[in-house]
Amino acid sequence: MTLPTVTDRPTISRLVGKRIVVTGGARGIGAEIARRFASEGAEVAVLDLLAEQGSALAGELGCHFVPVDLTDTAGTTDALGRAIETLGGIDVLVNNAGILRFSPLLEITVDEWERMFAINTTAMLVTTQLAARSMIAAGTGGTIINLASMAGKTGGAGQGHYAASKAAVIALTRVTALELGASGITANCICPGYVLTEMGAATRTEADVAEWSSYSPLGRLAEPADVAGVAAFLASADAAYLTGQALNVTGGMIMH
Ligand SMILES: NC(=O)c1ccc[n+]([C@@H]2O[C@H](COP(=O)([O-])OP(=O)(O)OC[C@H]3O[C@@H](n4cnc5c(N)ncnc54)[C@H](O)[C@@H]3O)[C@@H](O)[C@H]2O)c1
Repeated sequence: MTLPTVTDRPTISRLVGKRIVVTGGARGIGAEIARRFASEGAEVAVLDLLAEQGSALAGELGCHFVPVDLTDTAGTTDALGRAIETLGGIDVLVNNAGILRFSPLLEITVDEWERMFAINTTAMLVTTQLAARSMIAAGTGGTIINLASMAGKTGGAGQGHYAASKAAVIALTRVTALELGASGITANCICPGYVLTEMGAATRTEADVAEWSSYSPLGRLAEPADVAGVAAFLASADAAYLTGQALNVTGGMIMH
């Protein structure tokens, strides 16, 4: 039996007129989110370290690309400011950029810990503050979507710094929802399970894929499009009453 997938979806255009910034959108999940948003009618700006891939995607989608290293707070503020100016405002911010490293707990150095948090968590605070100020000044509300991870709920052996940074993303999302709801801003995060991207690809084996697939009742790992479809829903008016949530997109690997 062939089960339907997200690629079988009908064409829909829920994001016409939405001005959307996606961090880490040059490749992987972020690039697929940018594709999906553009296909639903949004005007998209992508921020990323990877200038060549970001520019190529901008050419493919007719969207904007702004190069940035999210560990540089001043550079991040400038890049997001330029993206918002180019779009003429911001309705949706997708904090997607992230890194994954593996290290046993007893071997994680403070430098590794701080780099993980700088990209996965601290940059998210900076972009959220800037985007929210713009949304509040415009008085039109907005939506913030953060990429957390299943590891932020379950932990993960060898992922002490990664899992902790993603647990912080879940908490930051809830505080964002609590504090900014009165300004008409919703905030939710997506907790993917195992998505087939370049993240973790260097150490991925066929045995890993088979083992992790067996943890999902659907018997497969996620494609970036599985996550992008959920992001598009969260960015749309269909999710107007959803805030402060950490949605699992894990193929049922976890259910809490
Ligand atoms: N792939 C998975 O299995 C998985 C699972 C759970 C959560 N996630 C999360 O989803 C998000 C996207 O992951 P992905 O699988 O597409 O990974 P990816 O490595 O393919 O893409 C990450 C993107 O972030 C960008 N980035 C990294 N550091 C940056 C920096 N300092 N400045 C600017 N951009 C930077 C990269 O250049 C890249 O384009 C991440 O937050 C990740 O933690 C992924």
